[in-house]
Amino acid sequence: MAPLDGRTAVVTGASRGIGAGIAEALGSQGVRVVLIARTEAKLEERAARIKGSIPVTCDVTDPKSVERATKRIATELNGAPDILVNNAGIYSVAVAEETTAESFIETINTNLVGPFLFVRAFLGEMKKRKAGHIVTIGSVADRTIYTGNAAYSAAKFGLRGIHEVLRAELRGTGVRTSLISPASTDTEIWNSVTVTDPAGKPHSKRLMLDPHDVVRAVLFALTQPERVNVDELRLSHS
Ligand SMILES: NC(=O)c1ccc[n+]([C@@H]2O[C@H](COP(=O)([O-])OP(=O)(O)OC[C@H]3O[C@@H](n4cnc5c(N)ncnc54)[C@H](OP(=O)(O)O)[C@@H]3O)[C@@H](O)[C@H]2O)c1
Repeated sequence: MAPLDGRTAVVTGASRGIGAGIAEALGSQGVRVVLIARTEAKLEERAARIKGSIPVTCDVTDPKSVERATKRIATELNGAPDILVNNAGIYSVAVAEETTAESFIETINTNLVGPFLFVRAFLGEMKKRKAGHIVTIGSVADRTIYTGNAAYSAAKFGLRGIHEVLRAELRGTGVRTSLISPASTDTEIWNSVTVTDPAGKPHSKRLMLDPHDVVRAVLFALTQPERVNVDELRLSHS
């Protein structure tokens, strides 16, 4: 039997890219997965490929939308999920003075506030059950700064901060929490960004990680014996 068979999971940002890969991998291991994203048609199309999965449209930046989604999830899964993967995220590049207030706020709301709202919704029940696993998809940019990344760095450094606070608060409770921080990965997040290396030279998408590389790291964290907490995995280019 697969180690995760019979569990339940919520994956945010599951309509494409890394989140879709995580949702598919969990589904194939017998996990009942709730897929979260804003674009209903894409979400339903993705969910149709994952046996037993449930698409729930939600904008993670909107507390009311998250409240509606988490209530529906609790009904569908009969309570909080066993696994929460906070993956939904956006990325844009602009030097500080050209970063608009709207873009800064949207990045913080999507990449930092959204994950917090999902944790807040489910953590109490996980603690009562003395079981659960929260996986946070961070980034190489949650420890290393890059020019043009004021909004993204602020969000991802903050997200790592929340992860580390959770790790400290949850030690010994039975609830585990893991941060997976990949380097650039070939997904649609790069479609509206000019890809350059640290020296400003064009950076080939062929040099990026594959979404499945990140999926394998998530599965590694989730399938360790209960006595093991994978605190942090950092994936860089070889
Ligand atoms: N790709 C990389 O190079 C890379 C590297 C390090 C870390 N990461 C992190 O990995 C995560 C996934 O990135 P990705 O590359 O897979 O991105 P992606 O291909 O652009 O997918 C992003 C997903 O998030 C969803 N999403 C975006 N805003 C949302 C919102 N407000 N509410 C709900 N869902 C929302 C999108 O669906 P809708 O648009 O339909 O909502 C989509 O399903 C992000 O946290 C990103 O920061 C990516």
